[in-house]
Amino acid sequence: MYENLKQVLFKLDAEKAHNIVEFFLRKVAPLPLVQDLLAWQFVKCDERLANTLDSVRFPNPVGVSAGFDKNATMLKGLGALGFGFIEVGTITQAPQSGNPKPRLFRFPQEHSLQNMMGFNNNGVSKIAKRLQKLYPLCLPIGANIGKNKIIAQSDSLQNYENTLLEVLDLADYFVFNVSSPNTPKLRDLQNKGFVASLFKMARKHTQKPIFLKISPDMHTDDMLEVIESAIKHGCSGIIATNTSIDYSLLKGAKSEGGISGEALKERSREVFESIAKEFFGKTLLISSGGIDSADEAYERIKMGACLVQIYTGLVYQGPSLPRRINEGILARMQADGFSHISEAIGVSHTTKSHKNAKDSKSAKDKEQEINITESAKAKSNAKATSSVAKQSKDSTKPKSPTKRTRASDDETNA
Ligand SMILES: Cc1cc2nc3c(=O)[nH]c(=O)nc-3n(C[C@H](O)[C@H](O)[C@H](O)COP(=O)(O)O)c2cc1C
Repeated sequence: MYENLKQVLFKLDAEKAHNIVEFFLRKVAPLPLVQDLLAWQFVKCDERLANTLDSVRFPNPVGVSAGFDKNATMLKGLGALGFGFIEVGTITQAPQSGNPKPRLFRFPQEHSLQNMMGFNNNGVSKIAKRLQKLYPLCLPIGANIGKNKIIAQSDSLQNYENTLLEVLDLADYFVFNVSSPNTPKLRDLQNKGFVASLFKMARKHTQKPIFLKISPDMHTDDMLEVIESAIKHGCSGIIATNTSIDYSLLKGAKSEGGISGEALKERSREVFESIAKEFFGKTLLISSGGIDSADEAYERIKMGACLVQIYTGLVYQGPSLPRRINEGILARMQADGFSHISEAIGVSHTTKSHKNAKDSKSAKDKEQEINITESAKAKSNAKATSSVAKQSKDSTKPKSPTKRTRASDDETNA
């Protein structure tokens, strides 16, 4: 069915098509019957996929990457598509219109996209108002935070802090984005010193999980140094990776903007692997970049990803992708003899055969090992996870988002 819809959508400019999908997920999908129908079709509930990470319970490991729901207008609709979590943003302190259009391009043969959006978003105050009506949702919500284009490099820290403060009580985890290629000089902030100051600042305000999103284009040694510094100063985990500006990855690529999807897959996997080699077991790892199948998602999980995120795969494969990935992960877990996802996380990294893994560690032990990272230890009595903990206790399986939200249906996009 999506193939037919895709034929129509793909005749339109890519951003226009996204706006149509946004309208459906904002206005139509949350209608009670529609939402129940979507949830019935797409939500895969299975306790073997549910995992508690840094005190936040994720019903399944497949999330929506940042950039898809920049303004937090689609949460209810996306919740009905079977995702395990949703990352909104990138949010900036002041609203921004982003770069001139057209700024999103499809490469259908390569199942890839290239975008130069430039953090177009409604600004944190408006987005916070929207989140206030919805939070807490039955799924974890991440708030991805970036810097306004007009802000001088020297004022960046303050800019990130101002945005963080406005959503502090409105998300389950946060992400500092210093890796988008579409804001001039943003990637220059991927250095030890700035990253240290970011996390020191954030830890004065919250004990909730905070992630750093990394670019796939850094020199490995520099990248590992930056991650080391982030973890030392309170970072809970790494999201690897953002889009790439290595235009050799994609035939016909334009000379600006970030590449995502299949063209990014291998690079992203390699970068993730080098991060996992150093940091698996020391911090939480989320994999993003070219994940478009259960095979790829399971591979990343076995490499050490506790969660995976998708964007471009959703555009090319449609709304059944999260369910298909979750079902596929379960089938692969079963074939490998794993009774809980926590047993699969990092298993290829620790080079244990499944039998060894089973013999040496129970699922619970392994889950604990992943959860108790250095940063997580410091937050074992986190006050700020209360809302999610509250949800988690009474929700053993994901429910239709309307059943848990306090929101009215009057959100607007503009
Ligand atoms: C149109 C578009 C907009 C994006 N916007 C953001 C963003 O605002 N913030 C961010 O951290 N990542 C953004 N991303 C990157 C994605 O979150 C993701 O990391 C990347 O696309 C790789 O995953 P994929 O191959 O599954 O798309 C964007 C990606 C696309 C395609």
